[in-house]
Amino acid sequence: MQAKPKVLVTRVIPEDGLRVVSDACDAVIRKDDLPPSRDELLNLVRGMNGILALLSDRIDGEVMDAAGEQLAVISNYAVGFDNIDVAAATERGIFVANTPGMVTESTADLTFALLLAAARRIGEGIDYIRTGRWIAFKPMELLGKDVHHATLGIIGLGSIGLEVAKRARGFDMDVIYYDHRMRAELGRPVGAVMCDSFDELLSRSDFITIHAPLTDATRGLINAEVLSKMKKTAILVNASRGPVVDTDALYDALQSGRIAYAALDVTDPEPLPADHKLMELPNCLIVPHVGSASVETRTKMAVLAAENLVAGATGGVPRHLVNPEVSKRRQPG
Ligand code: GLV
Ligand code: GLV
Repeated sequence: MQAKPKVLVTRVIPEDGLRVVSDACDAVIRKDDLPPSRDELLNLVRGMNGILALLSDRIDGEVMDAAGEQLAVISNYAVGFDNIDVAAATERGIFVANTPGMVTESTADLTFALLLAAARRIGEGIDYIRTGRWIAFKPMELLGKDVHHATLGIIGLGSIGLEVAKRARGFDMDVIYYDHRMRAELGRPVGAVMCDSFDELLSRSDFITIHAPLTDATRGLINAEVLSKMKKTAILVNASRGPVVDTDALYDALQSGRIAYAALDVTDPEPLPADHKLMELPNCLIVPHVGSASVETRTKMAVLAAENLVAGATGGVPRHLVNPEVSKRRQPG
């Protein structure tokens, strides 16, 4: 009998996924729920045929080389894969796989939760009661902003952006979008209308939500200049990746009232320290990168990431490849 391939799972993921891995592989499952240090990671990957990584594990050429030439697959437990040096993997003939589809609707749900919570100041309302300030019904207290019939601007109309647009239509919002592909037909199935320029989206939107991946082109996209082109009443939602927004510029815009509110599922840095200046702002609502954090979605992600890992480690081709060009080069089996 052939020996089972060796794989590393860098954190405990839902049981259904671990079972898929353990059945097919000789698996090292790292029990600590904090990310491994660089040295620990470099040690753990040695001799592995596959690595199941989290978005907080930086997997670059050095890690791949530390693993060795037999490394066949890096399976990311996320749809985003900016933590992986994909070019370095492709160069070495290593598959990189992710979990698209699974996180789409849950992330859109969370985006809408953030949008509604910011608009209606839910976080502030909870604090208001907790701190003993609810002593009477006050006509002028905690007034927010209507979501219904407002204009929602979506930056990046990929699969998550489309699901957000669908939800927005249920709230009778006018949905507009900017997408670097500049294709007017993208939005038609969900009644979203393309803006001819990024500036048009900025100036027209009451709510702006970001659903673009983190790339060289989107890093720092939301900077001081961009924030200055938004409405003063604008609410910014980010459930994509923290570094798409310039944190200092956002802080200044919120603090000075240049825009009204931000609701963030992702931050830069991440994790965000409890004493970070953003946390002092009453008009900034932050949750800890929980876009995909439902029982159902995390379970499906675990199974899919496990299947991608097992496929790659056993000489097959993972279903969800980030670098499909590798399959042509690698001889399966
Ligand atoms: C979560 O952020 C993901 O990319 O899946
Ligand atoms: C928008 O900037 C996009 O990436 O589509």
